[in-house]
This record gives sequence, structure tokens and C-alpha cells, in this order.
Amino acid sequence: MKQATEVMQSLSTELNYSFPETAIILAAGHGKRIKSQRSKMLHEIYGTTTVERVYNACAAAVPGINTVIVVGIKAVDVMNMIGSKTNNMFAYQAEQKGTGHAVQVALDEIKDENYSGIVYVLPGDMGLIDKETITGFREKFVASTSDMMVLTGIFSGPVESNYYGRIVRVKALDAHGIPSGDDNGKVIEIIEHKDILALNEHENYVTEYKGRTYTYTKQEMLDNREYNSGVYAFDYKKLKMLVHKIKSNNVQGEIYITDLIGLFNKSGYTVSASSPKEEYVVMGFNDKSVLKEMESIYRKNVYNLLKNIVEIDDHEDFFIAESAINDIIAMDKQGAPLDIRIGKGVYIGTGVKLNYNLHLKRHVHVSGNVLFGKNVVVWDNAELSCYPHQSFVIGDNVEILSGDIIKGNIVLGENTRIESSVNMTGSDEYPLIIGKNVLVKGTSYIFGSVIEDDIFIEHSVLINKRINKLLKKNGEVQKIRFYLPMPSGVDAIEHL
Ligand code: UD1
Ligand code: CA
Repeated sequence: MKQATEVMQSLSTELNYSFPETAIILAAGHGKRIKSQRSKMLHEIYGTTTVERVYNACAAAVPGINTVIVVGIKAVDVMNMIGSKTNNMFAYQAEQKGTGHAVQVALDEIKDENYSGIVYVLPGDMGLIDKETITGFREKFVASTSDMMVLTGIFSGPVESNYYGRIVRVKALDAHGIPSGDDNGKVIEIIEHKDILALNEHENYVTEYKGRTYTYTKQEMLDNREYNSGVYAFDYKKLKMLVHKIKSNNVQGEIYITDLIGLFNKSGYTVSASSPKEEYVVMGFNDKSVLKEMESIYRKNVYNLLKNIVEIDDHEDFFIAESAINDIIAMDKQGAPLDIRIGKGVYIGTGVKLNYNLHLKRHVHVSGNVLFGKNVVVWDNAELSCYPHQSFVIGDNVEILSGDIIKGNIVLGENTRIESSVNMTGSDEYPLIIGKNVLVKGTSYIFGSVIEDDIFIEHSVLINKRINKLLKKNGEVQKIRFYLPMPSGVDAIEHL
């Protein structure tokens, strides 16, 4: 696949071999159950794709970390979405032969023979993993001095719907009824759900740990609630040594990364497990309903973070981008009350700068570098936006009424009021600059114009116009009413 190789070369950057930590993010799989043309990895949680969220969590938890993102299905889309990042390589897994194979492909990108340190592996669909979880996992791995650690969860739903790989631990008694002593509770291996299902009903599952035998019934395996989250930490050198020893003798015929636990143990290396503080952080999704559930958890967290700082009318229906969340928290730390009210269905995108005493009513949509002044009210369904290279500045005490669509390079002066259903645009070449105390009555259309202070505009269409402040003899400012450009194209219009 030529195109993927080209994109991979143009977007990958060098790994920093003097930095002893690398995260491998697995994002090559198909995710058939999601039932979408899009790659599973490109599904969003609260406006950001899951694979980006995993990447961001790694980058935030370990500043300077190297990353290798394994892509395969819809590789070009996934790579373009992540873009070019420092110390990040994309690795191309042409055929999805399993999670262990994906790690093999990723490790091929580490070209330095002398590299040593920690390698983390994370699935790209774990959209709720955060900086704190990775930081905690990293600390535990380092403190454990083990050679490998797996992040586990405890399944709380009905056992029949637990499709995760199960963590098999040493029992108190071995197969001969002899106490396992110090080995009790040690992680032996991970067995995939599908492989448990394939076990013979009446035969025990038999495994070994440090030369002793342990047995488990099929039901015991199924009932085991401790599962593999799919996040691991490894000593790089040991991983590199063992990763090619993984076989594919399982029901799926795949190379499972999970087999490394058994392989590490058999090689005499230490394996440990730890659980995150909050269970939800390790959720992954295979279908749309779980994705929605994850989004709702994310939104709930945002709500809880902000609920006592700003007023959010509907805790299940709002969007505030990360940048604006951080601004709100920073403003709150300065001490003055914010008096920001966010109506149902409001969308506040990346780059928007909120201000004191702002009221965004129902379904207001704001995106881009929109800078609010103080005491601004925006009524229902208004849409305010600009492109990333543009700016949209709103003065203090501005009021924007229902259904207004205002886009592009814009300045709205203090105390200006834009009444309902006005459409205004400012382009790069022709920004729209509106002075102070201007009143624009409803259903006007204004493009790329300059309007001086104190002007009244009623039901007008103004394209590339300058509106001067003209004082009449009685001292009043000249009003602009019903201005329409000369018609053109009239020869195409006839009476019926
Ligand atoms: C995997 C684990 C399972 C664990 C579960 C947690 C294995 C064998 N099993 O199962 O123990 O409980 O995750 O969610 O690892 N991927 C690739 N290339 C491949 C295959 C997968 O990049 O060839 C990626 C997928 O895109 C995904 C991740 O690896 O992001 C996990 O793969 P998935 O197929 O979802 O594994 P599970 O069957 O869920
Ligand atoms: Ca999965």
C-alpha cells in the first residue's frame, strides 16, 4: 500500500533514543462490531478521537516520551488525524495478525541496538485513559521492580457479557493440594475469553507456575472477574528478547500479546499486576452503545469539575472544549466569581475565550478564536465562529439575539446589539468591523464592512460598505434603513 507508506514517512519523526521510555499504541485493528465505515480508532469521545486521547494521556503523563503508533486498517485516516508529533513514529501493520504481532511491528521501529528502558503498550480504543492513570501505573511499575506489569480491571457486570481476557493467578493449593506459599496470588498468564469458551466442559484447565501445577474448571475461568485491560509495561530488553517467541496456537490463530505473561514467567522474569483507582479509565469499546456510555462518563466528569464554578443548565447536553475548561478553572483560581451560564445544548469549541458574566442561551454554538468581552448575552441558536487563523472579538455588553450567524474575521464594539436572524461575515480580505453602540435590526445581511460607532441599521444588505457616522442638523446620527444593493441578473427573471 504505497499511499500509507508515503504518509507514514512524511508524518513520522525520529525517536529520541536517549529517552528511556516508549509507548506503543495499537491502532491497526478493524473493529467490525462498531458497524461504521470509519476506523474504530477515529470514533470520538467528547470531540476527540480515542486514539488521540490515548496519545495525549501518554504525552502528558511522561513528557518527552517516545511513541510508536501501529496503524493498519484505514491507516492513512488514522495517521492524518494524529498528524506529525515529536518523537512519534507510525508503524504499518499490513495484516492484522494479532496484538502481539502489532507489538512486533512496532518494536521494529526502534533501531538503536543499545536502547533500554520501559515500553508501555496501550490499545487505541481506550478513550477514557488519562494522565493520572498512566502516571500511577508507571510509578507502580518502577516501584515493583518487576520485568512486566499488566493493568487489570475488576468486571462488575454480568459474567456472560465479560469478553475480556482473564488474569489467571496462582491458587492457594496446587493440583496436589499442597499450599502454594509465597507464590499464592502471583499472575501466571492471561487466557482469552474465546479460548476459555473453547475448553472442554468436563476437563480441567491445567497450567504451571515455577514447576508446580494448578488446575481450574472452565466455569472457574469464566467466573473470574479480574480482567486484562490491555495496558502493559515491559522492560524493553526482555520484551525484545521474548516478543518473537509468541506462537499463534489459539482459537483465533492470532499472535497474542497476552502470551508474554506466560513467556516472561517461564523465562524466570517477574510479572505483576495493578489496578487503576477508577474502573472506567480502562474501558474500551466494541460497539456504539459502549462508546456513548464512555462519552457520557467523560461529560459527567467535566460537569463535576465545573458545576460549582459555572452554571450548566443541562448536565447531559453541553460541550466545552478542553482549552475552555482549563480557562474556566484558571479564571476561578483568580478568585472573582465568573457568573457564566451555559444553556442546554451549548457548544464551546477549542480556542473560544470566555469572560465574566457571559450568558450563552440554548443551543448557542461557538467555535474558533472567539474572544468574549464582559457581560455578553447570546440568545438561542446563534452561531459564532471563525477559522483557526482568524479572530472574532466581542466587546463588553454586547447582545447577540436568536438565530444570528456570525462568521469569520469580526470585531463587535462595546454595547452593540445584533437583533435576531442577522447573518454577518468577515473574510480575510474584508474583515467586518462594527463600532460601539451599534444596533443592527433583524434579518440584515452584512459582509466585510466597516461600521462606525452609534449607527442604527434596519433590514439592510451591506456588502463591502463603509458606514460613516453622519450627524444630522438635529444632532441625531443618520439611520440606515432598508438599504439594498442594486439588483443584477434581472435579465434572467420574467413574469409568469
Ligand atoms: C485484547 C486482549 C484481551 C483484553 C482486551 C482489552 C489480546 C489477545 N487480548 O482483546 O485480553 O481483555 O484487549 O480490551 O491482546 N490491534 C492491532 N493489530 C492487530 C490486532 C489488534 O493493532 O493485529 C489493536 C486493535 O486496533 C485494538 C487493540 O489492538 O486497539 C486490541 O485489539 P482487540 O482486537 O480489540 O483485542 P481484544 O479482542 O479486545
Ligand atoms: Ca478490544
